[in-house]
Amino acid sequence: MIQVAAGAPIAETEAQALLVGARSGVELDAGGAWVVERLPWIADRFEEKEFTGKTGEILSIPAGDGLPYKDVVFVGLGDDPDAEDVRRAAGAAARSLKTAATVATTLHSACAGGAGAAVQGIALGAYTFGRHKSEPKPSKIETVVLVDGTEDDAALTQEALVIAEAVAVARDLVNESAMYKSPEALAAVAVELGDAHGFAVRVMDEGEIEREGLGGLHGVSLGAANPPRLVELSYEPEGAEAFLALVGKGIVFDSGGLSLKPAGSMEEMKTDMSGAAAVFGAVTAIARLRLRVRVLGIAPLTENMPGGGALRPGDVLHTRNGKTIEVLNTDAEGRLVLADGLALAVERSPDLVVDLATLTGACMVALGKKIAGLLGTDEAVDQVAAAAATAGERVWHLPLPDDYRKQIDSDIADMKNTGDRWGGAITASLLLREFAGDGAWAHLDIAGPARAEDADGYIPKGGTGFGVRTIVELARQMSGA
Ligand code: BES
Ligand code: MN
Ligand code: ZN
Repeated sequence: MIQVAAGAPIAETEAQALLVGARSGVELDAGGAWVVERLPWIADRFEEKEFTGKTGEILSIPAGDGLPYKDVVFVGLGDDPDAEDVRRAAGAAARSLKTAATVATTLHSACAGGAGAAVQGIALGAYTFGRHKSEPKPSKIETVVLVDGTEDDAALTQEALVIAEAVAVARDLVNESAMYKSPEALAAVAVELGDAHGFAVRVMDEGEIEREGLGGLHGVSLGAANPPRLVELSYEPEGAEAFLALVGKGIVFDSGGLSLKPAGSMEEMKTDMSGAAAVFGAVTAIARLRLRVRVLGIAPLTENMPGGGALRPGDVLHTRNGKTIEVLNTDAEGRLVLADGLALAVERSPDLVVDLATLTGACMVALGKKIAGLLGTDEAVDQVAAAAATAGERVWHLPLPDDYRKQIDSDIADMKNTGDRWGGAITASLLLREFAGDGAWAHLDIAGPARAEDADGYIPKGGTGFGVRTIVELARQMSGA
C-alpha cells in the first residue's frame, strides 16, 4: 500500500515529483505559485504548451537544480473543482510518472475532502496489470507527501487507499484472461480474500447448484467444459445497522453460446465477470473498513460456451424462485444467471439488493461507454444514485415501464429472455425484476464503464473496477457512518 506522509512545508519536502493544481486561467494553487516564483521561466511554458488549467490538461516540467523536486507536474482542475476533479487530475498525473518513488502534492488543497481524493487518484492512476508481461513496468510510486497537510488529512487517506486497493482487486480479475479465471479459480480467489480480510465464503459446486434449483446458472453452464460455481461472500459484523445484498454477473467468458457472437464482439468478453469482480472488491473493502453493515455478496460464475451440451434456443429453464424462462437467444445469458442470484439474495430478506452486471449492449447504445444504467425501485435507485455521486462514478436512471413487460411474454414459459429490438437495457431489467422480490432493489448495467478503451484520468486502459467505489459508499451510508 502507498504510504502517506503529511505536514512538511513545500521548501523542506524532498521528492522526485511535485504535483500541483491549476484552475482555469492558470490560477495556480499555493504549490504552483511557489514553483513559478522560484522558476519564473515556467510561465512562458504555459503559453508555449497552451496550458490553461482546463480539466484534463497536464504539463510536466523538469525543474532542474533550483528545487528539491526533479519534475513538477501541473494539472488542470477547471473552474470549481470537486473531489472527482481532484481524483481525475491526480490519476492523470500519476499515470504520467514513470520513475518517481516519492511524490509530493498540493492537489489536496483544491476542495473539501481533497486529501482522500488526491491520494486515491494517485493510487488508482498508478495501477498496472503486468502479470503476463515478461518485463512488467509497475508504477514506482511508494510514498505520497501531502505538502502542508495535517495528520487528519493523512488519516482520511487510509480509507481512500483501502478502497483504491479494492478497485485494483476488481481490475486484476477483469483484466485476467478467461483461461486463468475459470469459475473454480475465481471461487478460490474469493476464499483467499475472505481469509485475508475477515469475511466468510461459501462455494456451491455444480451438483449443489443443480440440487438447489439454480436452473438459470446451471443452464448457461451446460455448453462449457469448466463447471460453474456460485460464491457467497458474507460479512457479518457485530452491531450491524442494515443488511445489504449484492449480486454480480460472473460470466468468465461470453461467447454467446449457440447464438454465437461475431469474432469482434467476443474480443472483450473475458470482462463479462466485471459485476462479480466489483462484488469481490466491494466486500473486501467493506470488511477491511469494518463498516457496520451486514453484507451478502453473491456471484454466479460460469462460462457461456457453445459446447455439445449447450442450451438450444427454445429451451426452458426452471429457476430458483420457481419461475420459468424460455431461452430464445443464448447470448442473453446474464439475466439467466442473475435470476438465480437475485432469488437467492431476496430469500435472506436484506434491506436492499443491488446487482451489477455487464448486461446489455443496448445500455451502451443509450448511455455510451462511461455511464452505467441504473434501474430499480424508487428509493433504491435514489440511494444508489446518491452513493455514486459521492463516490465519483457516473450512473443514469432509466425507467422500468410496466407496459414493456409484454415484450418478454413467452408462449410456453413465464417469460422469454429477449424482448424486441428497442429498449434492450429496459427489457433485460424487467426480466430481473421478476426475481428481485418486493423490497428495495437496484440494478447497475455496467456494460459500458466496466472497461476503458483508452486511459482517462485515474482510469488506465482495460478493466476499471467500476462499481466498487459506489457500493462501498452505499454501505458506508447504510452503516450510518
Ligand atoms: N455480455 C453481453 C453484454 C455486453 C455487450 C457487455 C458488449 C459488454 C459489451 C451480454 O451477455 C449480451 O450478449 N447481451 C446481448 C443481449 C441480446 C442478445 C438480447 C446484447 O446486448 O447484445
Ligand atoms: Mn451474452
Ligand atoms: Zn454476457
